[in-house]
Amino acid sequence: METRFISFDQTRIAVHIAGRGPLVVLLHGYPLDHRMWLDVMSSSLAGERTFAAIDLRGHGQSPWCGDAMHTMDLMADDVSAVIRTLTDDAVDIVALSMGGYVAQALAARHPELVSSLALVDTRARGDTAEQRDGRDAAMQTLQREGRAAIARAMLTKLLAPRPEVDPLAQLLAARLTTMIEALPVETILADLRGLRDRPDRTESTKSVQIPVLVVVGEHDAITPPAETEAWAAEIPGARHVIVPDAGHMPPMENPTEFVRVLGEFWSGLD
Ligand code: MLT
Repeated sequence: METRFISFDQTRIAVHIAGRGPLVVLLHGYPLDHRMWLDVMSSSLAGERTFAAIDLRGHGQSPWCGDAMHTMDLMADDVSAVIRTLTDDAVDIVALSMGGYVAQALAARHPELVSSLALVDTRARGDTAEQRDGRDAAMQTLQREGRAAIARAMLTKLLAPRPEVDPLAQLLAARLTTMIEALPVETILADLRGLRDRPDRTESTKSVQIPVLVVVGEHDAITPPAETEAWAAEIPGARHVIVPDAGHMPPMENPTEFVRVLGEFWSGLD
């Protein structure tokens, strides 16, 4: 895997590249970084596609740039700058949860850069009043108790229930905790404000002119399959696929099936 740093307007974005063939841009969820995609990037699909996993501003190896709020539009514009640096062509996007909000902003603001969208465990609508209150509560928890408390709270939401002694449960918990506890506190606060205040993308996503795949983990508690299925039904031509044995993180919890689903989607486009 090769890491490149792309700089523009006081911003430095890290992008991690592996594989060969047409470019696929991978966008991670909150509060994570490119490492959530490592199983996908080292899968057999890397023989057919070049994966470029971006660390959104303030995450992973991309430094926090001083913003109090990471709006989805701001992060989508960063992604557009990275794509324009890497290629002259439109790219396939695979984007999980917050990454999916960013991908939908990208498709609305820079449609010429996107050739297909795989939207994973995400949604188009904005936060409900209750979810907005939850973002404010998370900010208070973070400031009072630190990142470890955010990591503890997120683990139960991100992963499907598994026995604590299950080696996969332990590995997933360790990988996620490592990512969350490496984030600057300022990044988590800026993400939470951006997530809380993000606009509804229902209408713009419904009218995209490119192939759309909506994927969700069978046990996802954040964007449950019943919700994603109803959403996909409103997007003309979109396919909806449920990944078994996974919660909110199918690319980490069941990478074999996740990779199969992606490969099938792309082979239908070729
Ligand atoms: C994510 O996984 O990116 C978050 O759960 C998104 C959210 O909380 O809306």
